Amino acid sequence: MTSGTILSGMRPSGRLHLGNYFGALQNWTRLQEDYDCFYMIADVHALTTLSGAEEVRTIAPDAHEMALDWLAAGLDPERSVLFVQSQVPEHLVLQGLLSMSAPLGWLMRVPTFKERVRQIGEHEENVPFGLVGYPVLQTADIVIYKADKVPVGIDQAPHLEISREIVRRFNRLYGDTFPEPQTLLTDSPSITGTDGENKMSKSLDNHLELAASDEETAARAMTMVTDPQRMRRSDPGRPDVCNVFALQKLFNPGKIEEIRRRCESADIGCVDDKRDLAEGVNAYFREFRERRRELAESPGRVREILAAGAERARAVASETVGEVYERMGLR
Ligand code: TRP
Repeated sequence: MTSGTILSGMRPSGRLHLGNYFGALQNWTRLQEDYDCFYMIADVHALTTLSGAEEVRTIAPDAHEMALDWLAAGLDPERSVLFVQSQVPEHLVLQGLLSMSAPLGWLMRVPTFKERVRQIGEHEENVPFGLVGYPVLQTADIVIYKADKVPVGIDQAPHLEISREIVRRFNRLYGDTFPEPQTLLTDSPSITGTDGENKMSKSLDNHLELAASDEETAARAMTMVTDPQRMRRSDPGRPDVCNVFALQKLFNPGKIEEIRRRCESADIGCVDDKRDLAEGVNAYFREFRERRRELAESPGRVREILAAGAERARAVASETVGEVYERMGLR
């Protein structure tokens, strides 16, 4: 007996970075111990913000790179169902059916939707239907496996809120069918990027990739912004405002007090500290990188894993769609 069913997803974003790892992936691997887990590469969701042959060309290679990271990090295809969303077309069927009882007002109030409209500088009326329907697809992703727990970051909380509303309405209209999915927030702190200011993100190019080489990691670490008041090597540092120190806590926990003391007394400089951090990161991901390199050499194996995952997912998903057909008078 497990504690329940989990579903979570990531849009195919290529190689993952430390923020993705501590914010999600590490937690996902642990959850495999206690739950039946479905982990999905949300390639259809990627289409809500990409269009045209040129842009969508990146989806499949990015999905593949991300799958390598997932597997190397310990997501286990024997224990969990790892799959690509578009290979389980039932998600789109269920999205269509759920959309019949999802008011437009709910969808247009989602902060990520409003943010996106602002970003693309479009009038609401020009926004694609698919983007408005994003939370309905996400709801379908979850409830199609009757998942009761969804591990996500705080930025996804509003989507989950809508999922619960959609579920409640569906259950009221058609009878109890889906559990109300609960958010499982990760307690890990959000990871700040090399700029020392913004959340780590690929689009801001302030990230450190898990799969980077030792040299790339060291080079990136050297660009990190530290305590802005520490101008000279002889100035005492303030670890508590320094992002290198924040990462040291994760990668060199055993000597963190020593690092603090030596930074505060200017016994080590920022360059020493960054070099030390890079070594910590490289040691931490050494085996991960080894496993990833091996997997990357057999792309066919990765495709097989994902195809087998999709098959297991479809068995459950088509069952649920059948039940929804029944409830909604289509049988
Ligand atoms: N929207 C999520 C993101 O951008 C990805 C996602 C798609 C997801 N479907 C999901 C997350 C279902 C949790 C559950 O990060």
